[in-house]
Amino acid sequence: MTPTWFRTLLLLSACQAIESAHLGRVRQAGTTTCKAVPGSEDWPAPGTWKALNESIGGRLLQPTPLGAVCHPGHASYSPGQCPVVQAAWFTEPLHSDDPVSAYWNNWSRDTCLPDPRAPCSSDGYPVYVVNATTAEHVKAGVDFGPLMPPSRLDVSKQARKNNIRLIVKNSGHDYLGRSSAPNSLSIWVHHMKSIKTHPDGFSPTNCNVAIDGLAITAAAGTQMLEAYRATALLNRTVVGGNGRTVALGGFMTGGGHSILAPHYGMAADQVLEMELVTPGGDIVIANECQNTDLFWAMRGGGGSTFGVLTSVTIKTIPSPQVTTLDFAFSTAAENPHAFDAITYFVSKFPDLADAGVSGYPIIFNTVPNTSDGGRTLVTGVVGKVIKLHTRKASEILQHLDPLLAHINATWPGFAFFTNITTHASFGLWYEDNFDPSPVGFSSVMSSRLLDRDALTADLNATKRGLERFSAGGQATVYIVSGKGVRDARPQGGGTAVHPSWRRAYVHATATVNFASLDAAARDAAIAQTKGFAAGLRDLAPDMGAYVNEASNWQQTFWGDNYARLLQIKRRVDPEDVFWCTPCVGSERWREVDDLLCRI
Ligand SMILES: Cc1cc2nc3c(=O)[nH]c(=O)nc-3n(C[C@H](O)[C@H](O)[C@H](O)COP(=O)(O)OP(=O)(O)OC[C@H]3O[C@@H](n4cnc5c(N)ncnc54)[C@H](O)[C@@H]3O)c2cc1C
Ligand SMILES: *[C@@H]1O[C@H](CO)[C@@H](O)[C@H](O)[C@H]1NC(C)=O
Ligand SMILES: *[C@@H]1O[C@H](CO)[C@@H](O)[C@H](O)[C@H]1NC(C)=O
Ligand SMILES: *[C@@H]1O[C@H](CO)[C@@H](O)[C@H](O)[C@H]1NC(C)=O
Ligand SMILES: *[C@@H]1O[C@H](CO)[C@@H](O)[C@H](O)[C@H]1NC(C)=O
Ligand SMILES: *[C@@H]1O[C@H](CO)[C@@H](O)[C@H](O)[C@H]1NC(C)=O
Ligand SMILES: *[C@@H]1O[C@H](CO)[C@@H](O)[C@H](O)[C@H]1NC(C)=O
Ligand SMILES: *[C@@H]1O[C@H](CO)[C@@H](O)[C@H](O)[C@H]1NC(C)=O
Ligand SMILES: *[C@@H]1O[C@H](CO)[C@@H](O)[C@H](O)[C@H]1NC(C)=O
Repeated sequence: MTPTWFRTLLLLSACQAIESAHLGRVRQAGTTTCKAVPGSEDWPAPGTWKALNESIGGRLLQPTPLGAVCHPGHASYSPGQCPVVQAAWFTEPLHSDDPVSAYWNNWSRDTCLPDPRAPCSSDGYPVYVVNATTAEHVKAGVDFGPLMPPSRLDVSKQARKNNIRLIVKNSGHDYLGRSSAPNSLSIWVHHMKSIKTHPDGFSPTNCNVAIDGLAITAAAGTQMLEAYRATALLNRTVVGGNGRTVALGGFMTGGGHSILAPHYGMAADQVLEMELVTPGGDIVIANECQNTDLFWAMRGGGGSTFGVLTSVTIKTIPSPQVTTLDFAFSTAAENPHAFDAITYFVSKFPDLADAGVSGYPIIFNTVPNTSDGGRTLVTGVVGKVIKLHTRKASEILQHLDPLLAHINATWPGFAFFTNITTHASFGLWYEDNFDPSPVGFSSVMSSRLLDRDALTADLNATKRGLERFSAGGQATVYIVSGKGVRDARPQGGGTAVHPSWRRAYVHATATVNFASLDAAARDAAIAQTKGFAAGLRDLAPDMGAYVNEASNWQQTFWGDNYARLLQIKRRVDPEDVFWCTPCVGSERWREVDDLLCRI
């Protein structure tokens, strides 16, 4: 089957965006207000790059985009490899194992898709990549540029002369494109992988504190599956996400939600210590006793903003048994009571979470019925919910059966599906239940955190909000917060995640996909998503959204924490060594086509 994306590609005119980028570059090149681009006067000379390469033992890469294997005329063109890359394009490892590839096409500006009919250049990708395996490699990348006057640095250091745009890539999962940028030097931390166990508890460095329980120190490139597998061997687990290739770097710095969070708190709440490279190029330890502002900001304040995480020490928890209910209920899309039933169900989530149920329900709104080949349209909820520390079906059915029975008895025309499975440990559960979502296309995501009030105070308002939010066809209403997040006691007293996480029960997301190389489709998707987002913003105006999974910003991501985050950012990174958008402190620069310029 040809994926829709390849089919759509045919219809589209490719070159406009790319051409205007070139014009922009020519117009602005050499000005001091923008970062250098290859060919501009201030782009480092070959010898300068060579010296950087030598300083990191030959680990500097100048990668070719993956898609070039499909394009005759490119050095890496390979009629044999092209179908292999095309087939793997929708899977995660292809992108996470590549130095520059991102999971979502438009963050590389669609400049080299694996389709011979599309254009292919390196324009949307970093120019050079530091393939880091140690903190020293990361430091070498940070010290190379961007510009930094000597007054900002230790006397022992040389001023940074290179006016380079710097980014950090780990897996390349980012929904916001923060791990991709044209004309940049990328610090690629994917190969920073090691996991060290502290079986008898952990004492933060130079800190007179003893923290009980088995902890691990994981390098920042460690991916979720690796963290789960390593801890499963010890009959433990981590509070982790559901994707397999999400890496700790972006996950932890964003806060990290988890199906275990309603019990144990967010991933960032488990952090005991971090090692990072600061914008000034210092390799430092941050914990509750030293660099406490960084320790706070790096747990939820966002990736590639306050420094580059090189390793993180986190608590583990005893691996719980898990009982899972996979369920669905659905009705004909024209059933006038479809959203009465959905709203009733979702309004019970706070009670479910308080009773120890967490999970990943998804609302579907007027989508083709898969059981009849799409002849009819259906609306409903599908997903999985779990209960920990038990393998008894009744332990979860006692909570869900009454809700389904109420829907069945109250509104006609619903069909139900349920299936129970049990697992002896969370690690085994994860191997069967990880998030298999495809990647390799383009989308806009909006999200909102919902508290008990938003879900229960006025069901008419909740219904309107959920209907609007899911109008694109699908919306997640994940039960990934609650008691455990509210009562979490992070080391040092707090983290930088939006304060409304502590009141939230549900993390809701809605995503609109759009065709590659089609600016009109992209703009329509952005506008549509804004409409969906407004549905839940109106419902829960005093809540916020999860930075790793949304496209809105400042107050929305960090609420009242923003002022402190901005103050820390200005102090630790006065020259904006790390710049990304939408990230704390990014207001002083903007992207003009493929240039990054001061405002
Ligand atoms: C299929 C799928 C499932 C997901 N499931 C979950 C989930 O269950 N829970 C959840 O919370 N999120 C989930 N996410 C979202 C995920 O947390 C974010 O996409 C996250 O940003 C990925 O981090 P990364 O380091 O892997 O990605 P990247 O794209 O490489 O990086 C993301 C951001 O972090 C920065 N960054 C990366 N490494 C470092 C570092 N070492 N130091 C400083 N900054 C760094 C990057 O510069 C960028 O700004 C999921 C995403 C997908 C696509
Ligand atoms: C860096 O040095 C290594 C080893 O000498 C070399 O193979 C590699 O091509 C160099 N990288 C770049 C970008 O020139
Ligand atoms: C990056 O470094 C890792 C670890 O040394 C190595 O295995 C990998 O091949 C390197 N990647 C590239 C593209 O050179
Ligand atoms: C694993 O831990 C659980 C408690 O979390 C315990 O009941 C079980 O016996 C342990 N299994 C092994 C093999 O140690
Ligand atoms: C979906 O199609 C199947 C097969 O025709 C049918 O039994 C079912 O009722 C349909 N679902 C809805 C909600 O209409
Ligand atoms: C729904 O109600 C019908 C009878 O009214 C019953 O046969 C069926 O088992 C019920 N289904 C569920 C899931 O409760
Ligand atoms: C129920 O779950 C079991 C175990 O995962 C699976 O083998 C079975 O196919 C599922 N049943 C249905 C009807 O989906
Ligand atoms: C990529 O899509 C996002 C929406 O997710 C949009 O904000 C951004 O401008 C797009 N980037 C490019 C280069 O088109
Ligand atoms: C909700 O809507 C129904 C039907 O429109 C109406 O009867 C009811 O009074 C409304 N409830 C509230 C609390 O507004």
